[in-house]
Amino acid sequence: MGKDVIVACDFASKDEVMNFLDEFKDSKPFVKIGMELFYAEGPQIVREIKQRGHKIFLDLKLHDIPNTVKKSMAVLSKLDVDMTNLHAGGTVAMMQAAVEGLTRPDGTRPILIAVTQLTSTDEERMKKDLLINEPIDKVVMHYAHNAKIAGLDGVVCSPLEAGKVHEVCGNEFITVTPGVRFADGDVGDQKRVMTPAQAKEIGSDYIVVGRPITASPDPVAAYERCVREFVG
Ligand code: C5P
Repeated sequence: MGKDVIVACDFASKDEVMNFLDEFKDSKPFVKIGMELFYAEGPQIVREIKQRGHKIFLDLKLHDIPNTVKKSMAVLSKLDVDMTNLHAGGTVAMMQAAVEGLTRPDGTRPILIAVTQLTSTDEERMKKDLLINEPIDKVVMHYAHNAKIAGLDGVVCSPLEAGKVHEVCGNEFITVTPGVRFADGDVGDQKRVMTPAQAKEIGSDYIVVGRPITASPDPVAAYERCVREFVG
């Protein structure tokens, strides 16, 4: 599995994201496009960034009935993204339908990963709001295992969970981990963070890094530092 740094392009408009990407002259980072940018600019923003030579993780976290997810994934597959995701809470049947929809006639498909429990959901909310009376770690690993059974390639998880996910689902099962900060950087609103070097050590396959790169006075240098520390 090729380790890589994915830059979270959490911008509100095409102008902002293109200005940011214009700074990269010698490298073409793998970029994450989330709901904000996608809903603001539509699928054309994906085509344009792809045309510039970037790999794309389209982070739309689908969760609906299996038939709707299958058809929507077929649309995303035609957009030629490299990675996309869904909520494992949609059940194994929904995840299997997603894999079917995403698979192109030639058998290829983008990498498909699952969100287990959002990191904004803690054990108390899970118990009180969702009536899930199990420890959150157990729930996360169970959802990861469901994703594997359904034929997905991996999960989004905190770097602290990556080692355990590999134990439960195997080393080939991809872990994509946000919550990465430089040792000397701002933590911001992230609670449980790791440096790129620590994420590498614990076995993350991809790190998703936003503000340490996008809000840096020198985004290219910050990106290159991430790559040096994580990929080596
Ligand atoms: O700016 P920062 O590095 O915190 O950005 C992290 C990115 O990863 C954001 O796009 C955020 O929405 C996403 N993410 C996260 N935690 C999760 C899932 C996704 O921070 N559990």
